[in-house]
Amino acid sequence: GSTVAIIVVAAGSGTRLGAAEPKALVTVGGQTILEHALSRVFDMTDAAQVVVVAPANRLDDARALATRVAGAATDHVTVVAGGDTRQQSVSAGLAVLEPGVEVVLVHDSARAFTPAAQFEAVIAAVRATGGGVIPGLAVADTIKQLDWTGAVERTVDRSQLVAVQTPQGFPRDGLLGAYASAAEDYTDDAAVFAAAGLPVTVVDGDPLAFKITTPWDLRRAESILGESAA
Ligand code: C5P
Repeated sequence: GSTVAIIVVAAGSGTRLGAAEPKALVTVGGQTILEHALSRVFDMTDAAQVVVVAPANRLDDARALATRVAGAATDHVTVVAGGDTRQQSVSAGLAVLEPGVEVVLVHDSARAFTPAAQFEAVIAAVRATGGGVIPGLAVADTIKQLDWTGAVERTVDRSQLVAVQTPQGFPRDGLLGAYASAAEDYTDDAAVFAAAGLPVTVVDGDPLAFKITTPWDLRRAESILGESAA
């Protein structure tokens, strides 16, 4: 079996996108967001177990399109139902890891254009450090901290900040332990891992790993596909 597993969380509703479908099943340039994300996962050179966490009422759709994109790698694909929160969806994915897996990556399906090279860089850094690894980008905007009235209190030193993406990578045992003891609702996996007292470092992210969240992001996704087809 593979020593790497990639959990692709795709069970979100996509409320902010304003679509009738769950976000992962919204089409961009003739393919669903989930298919775009998976095709880049399967572009990786080394085999990995791929776990797709799909909306509970769309498991058959998710299974069909994951099988289509996986092609020859189909044996390594598992599709499971997600939960009400992202954290619950990741837990559902962690529950079906194959026995030999040592490194686990968790990836947002909504970051559909994340190149295979970003997955490979995160895997290599987890192996090299033995800790958690997250891709991050420098923050371009000036960031202000507000007081409780909404008035500007101070300017945050943005040289100390990164905007964090996925895939986020972890040693399997550390991540499973962290999830088993996690209480609150964290917004990313590195926060769960760090709450267990485990170290996390940052590698360079990629602008292409942006998260499709709003209708504006969908237009950006369409224009990126238009450029690469031209
Ligand atoms: O909503 P947002 O885009 O921040 O979600 C990030 C990722 O987590 C998406 O790929 C979404 O499908 C996934 N998610 C999930 N289960 C949830 C909520 C979000 O798999 N309950």
